[in-house]
Amino acid sequence: MNSPPFDFDYIRELVRQQSAVVLGAEKKYLADLHLGSVAERSGFSSIAAFVEELKHTPFGTLHVQAVEALLTNETSFFRDLYPFEALRTDVLLHMIQQRQQERSLTIWCAGCSYGQEPYSIAILIQEYFPELADWSLQLIASDVSGRVLARLKQGSYTQLEVNRGLSFTLRDKYFRKQQDLWQISDTIRQMLTVRQLNLIHEWKALPMIDIIFLRNVLIYFDIETKISILQKIRQQLRPDGYLFLGGGETVFDIDSQFESVRINQSICHRLRSP
Ligand SMILES: C[S@@+](CC[C@H](N)C(=O)[O-])C[C@H]1O[C@@H](n2cnc3c(N)ncnc32)[C@H](O)[C@@H]1O
Repeated sequence: MNSPPFDFDYIRELVRQQSAVVLGAEKKYLADLHLGSVAERSGFSSIAAFVEELKHTPFGTLHVQAVEALLTNETSFFRDLYPFEALRTDVLLHMIQQRQQERSLTIWCAGCSYGQEPYSIAILIQEYFPELADWSLQLIASDVSGRVLARLKQGSYTQLEVNRGLSFTLRDKYFRKQQDLWQISDTIRQMLTVRQLNLIHEWKALPMIDIIFLRNVLIYFDIETKISILQKIRQQLRPDGYLFLGGGETVFDIDSQFESVRINQSICHRLRSP
């Protein structure tokens, strides 16, 4: 595809408006890398021609495809391991004790990308918490991108993807090889409730949550967006619940109503008592 210059500022603004993700000037290479194939698939001769079309037509499918192509979807099974260890050794045990009467537990993975994160939690529950089998367990997986959620729903992963973070034992127990892909078992797949949800819009009909995974998402937003999302998280998290952020993310200096708690090698965040 030819590459005459294109209006990167327009693209940055489109992505910011639709997702709150801030693409710095140094991220132009992402547009060079990812918009070409979207443009080509839609029959444009260059990224510039594609961007001009976007600029001069009302918001629609092409705009959505452009935005989705520029979101970072990097993820892996049991990413960073320690948060999942904390979940296994402390957090779930504590929550099970706390919810003994109601026998119900709700976990939310927000910005879950292709699903490796919520599926890791589902596998961990299946492996280590058989006592939850007759509880009402809701494991909500959400992302702004319909494209990543479509793959999550399929639940099939490449060899490279299963190699990242899954032991052979877990792979062979919960996946089955189908030609070149590894298909996750229906039991695990059916544990997820999948929702397309944009964190900067209203969070409609979301239940109160016991454990929130919001990992490696806030890092792409500006400070005002981080503040406003953490404020919404406070309304959505039950008072004794837990929030997990990514390794490079913090509530420190952003929201003083959360306190950070170390659990072995992991840090999670809890609401301060009123
Ligand atoms: C880097 S991935 C993180 C995946 C997973 N949480 C992890 O830590 O492995 C970030 C995800 O956030 C999603 N995202 C970006 N902006 C969003 C928004 N405004 N609302 C919901 N999800 C968003 C992206 O589509 C992407 O899948």
